[in-house]
Amino acid sequence: MMSRLTVQPSGPLMGQVHVPGDKSISHRALMFGALADGKSQVDGFLPSGDCLATLGCLEALGVEIDRHDETAVTVHGRGLWGLQKPTGPLNCVRSGTTMRLLAGILAGQPFDCTLTGDPQLLRRPMRRITEPLRAMGAEIEDTDGCAPLTIHGRKLRGYDHTLVVASAQVKSALLLAGLYADGPTVVRQPGPARDHTERMLIAMGARMAIAELNITLTPMDALTPNSLIVPGDISSAAFLLVAAALIEGSEVTIEGVGVNPTRTGLLGVLGEMGARIDIENAAVHEGEPVADLAVRFSNLRGVEVGGSTVVRMIDEFPILAVAATQAYGTTVVRDAAELRVKETDRIAVIIEGLRAMGARIEPQSDGFIVEGPTSLKGTAVDSHGDHRLAMALAVAGMIAEGETEIENSECIADSFPGFMALMQRLEIGESG
Ligand code: S3P
Repeated sequence: MMSRLTVQPSGPLMGQVHVPGDKSISHRALMFGALADGKSQVDGFLPSGDCLATLGCLEALGVEIDRHDETAVTVHGRGLWGLQKPTGPLNCVRSGTTMRLLAGILAGQPFDCTLTGDPQLLRRPMRRITEPLRAMGAEIEDTDGCAPLTIHGRKLRGYDHTLVVASAQVKSALLLAGLYADGPTVVRQPGPARDHTERMLIAMGARMAIAELNITLTPMDALTPNSLIVPGDISSAAFLLVAAALIEGSEVTIEGVGVNPTRTGLLGVLGEMGARIDIENAAVHEGEPVADLAVRFSNLRGVEVGGSTVVRMIDEFPILAVAATQAYGTTVVRDAAELRVKETDRIAVIIEGLRAMGARIEPQSDGFIVEGPTSLKGTAVDSHGDHRLAMALAVAGMIAEGETEIENSECIADSFPGFMALMQRLEIGESG
């Protein structure tokens, strides 16, 4: 199904809201819960396309999952060795996290299984997991470095990995495979990729030693179940933060957002641009930092983003590009070549969309340069099936003159079901 979203210029955004649960934590709560001995209760689960893909794959592996309502889920863990051989290929749909993390788990199982998905996912690079998993003894057939992946499960060896890209998906796949290895697994990261896997596995009793960017996991017999309330997703909150910062008269508080320091790069960058964002009511829930984010309209200036900040906001560059079109001066993004292998080539797609709307934005091999401010004009644009692009272009439409039409917008539900309805509630000043 193709759907077109029509966005009108927005008035000020006002109110207090929650955003849906964190996507990365929701995936992990299901997967790790499935491997635990006993029941895990997950509240605040994100019922998005990507997380439901994980849920479907786990059910196909014999895991019983009760859905009490959209966001309350009980996972009946089967223990590290309790997964069952599925009757057919596992469909990861468009979710890279589902495919890469499951590949780590499946590499060590006593059965064979195939991971597949939509054409968009079948284009994404998988060598980054297949090669290090093979170094642990995994037997995986890929298709020119991409999925479908056929995994012949077997006993794995511990291995000392030095990662080339800072990627939480790769790190997590290797640590999960490490649960099935005959000795310690070491993962050395080039940068601080999100650490939800480490936090959750430690809370579940995993033996893990962390020394700066290096992690050592020693296999053990069992994981204890983990019940948690998933914090709001800062990568979803990002669209509200930028929209409120850009629309004059806005004042929005987003409650209960996950502010794990490996995810908050955008807060620092928007702060440097002059955005007024207050972090309130900071607390730690089940090992994850959570806070309310209060944001008001502000005049922004251009900024330079590179180095280790990039991985701490890797999913926020499409919306940063929108903010940069309204900032005074030049914004430069570098060291972000990973953007080219996300759901789409996000450098190419954001440039196509924002240029069509009148922005001055130039591609670089590893980022982009924006000259601001420019007034954007509503027109027809295309998300190319990338949820974060669809939402970034929707925010661009909210600040543009005239109507913006976004093709292929149904993908918004991959990470943020109810996104446009929430924006509309804020426009009429309704909290919720
Ligand atoms: C994720 C890690 C990131 C991020 C993705 C979710 C995760 O990808 O872009 O949306 O949950 O581990 P990489 O690991 O490829 O950087």
